[in-house]
Amino acid sequence: MVSKMRQASGRLTEYWYAAALSEEVSTKGPVGRVVLGEMIVLWRAAGRQVVAMRDRCLHRNALLSEGDVFDGCIGCPYHGWTYDSGGRCINIPSEGANGEAPAEERRLETYPTLERDGLVWVWMGIGTEPDKAPFAMPHHASPGWGAYYMKTRFQNGVTNLVENFMDVPHTVFVHKGWFRSRSRKRVPTTVERTDHSVLVTYDQPRDSIGFTEKLLNPKGLPMLHTDKFYMPNTTRVDYVFGDEARAFVITSTCTPISEHETEVYTLISYKLGLANLVARFFLPPYTRKVIQQDVEIMEVQGRGLRHYGDTEFTSTPADTLHVHIEALRQWAESGADTAPPEPMVERMDFWI
Ligand code: FES
Ligand SMILES: [Fe+2]
Repeated sequence: MVSKMRQASGRLTEYWYAAALSEEVSTKGPVGRVVLGEMIVLWRAAGRQVVAMRDRCLHRNALLSEGDVFDGCIGCPYHGWTYDSGGRCINIPSEGANGEAPAEERRLETYPTLERDGLVWVWMGIGTEPDKAPFAMPHHASPGWGAYYMKTRFQNGVTNLVENFMDVPHTVFVHKGWFRSRSRKRVPTTVERTDHSVLVTYDQPRDSIGFTEKLLNPKGLPMLHTDKFYMPNTTRVDYVFGDEARAFVITSTCTPISEHETEVYTLISYKLGLANLVARFFLPPYTRKVIQQDVEIMEVQGRGLRHYGDTEFTSTPADTLHVHIEALRQWAESGADTAPPEPMVERMDFWI
């Protein structure tokens, strides 16, 4: 029973999706998640490996995520049917004194899982084995770097979210005074699309990114700002100062729940020398505030999209990167047996 959304997602399913922070999945009990419209239960089996299986008891569909984990198995909260880490139903208490395993095999769908960079990843390919690694979250545990995750629920779909995370023109409106203020400056920009990524470089070494700059770049060194989108759902924004001695990186990987709802795991990583000690306390509330402003504007756009759809957008040169992201995602979603959109490079200007 594959969800409609997963069924309609074509090649977008053939990736690892973040389903939880590692620390959220303990041996104490299961957690329930929705990925691409499918209810999934995550739990830790003996040996601590994370198991992901359909969150549905084979008996009467009670949610296993409300059950218990014991002896390397998960038990349904309703009548106690018990499943092992392979999804096999190995015990039905009402079948006998010891609840002997029934003769015919009853089995729940399981999903390949792995843990990397502090996240639990689930492979969503339909009937396919993993053929690639999850996105490598940069500097999750690199020497000299600080890092932390934020998990945020958005009322909008993945395409619009990744566009928002890479969109510069909105910053002077949505994050006015917090991140950037309008300065009527021209921003020469290069956009480069490959068959799986869109890279944007801003030729604007004197860009200012708000009062955080005192912390991130106290000496006012030239700043290199690049935004990159990686198929199908991840953005990485780098601010590198001077000779790369200091850097600030925001990486967001989006997990679709439904067409208009998405969970985003954002890794903030920073290398600021001694200022790392201050950044540890200062950055989390600041980045939480900025993300909250995006949550609100994405909800506003989401309401418009639910009413009008997304087939009548108007694009300007500042939307070039968005158009390329949409082209890649639409190609993958179509599942068509055609070549991906051609690699290309475009240069343009916009104003902030
Ligand atoms: S619904 Fe799960 S055991 Fe009955
Ligand atoms: Fe934003």
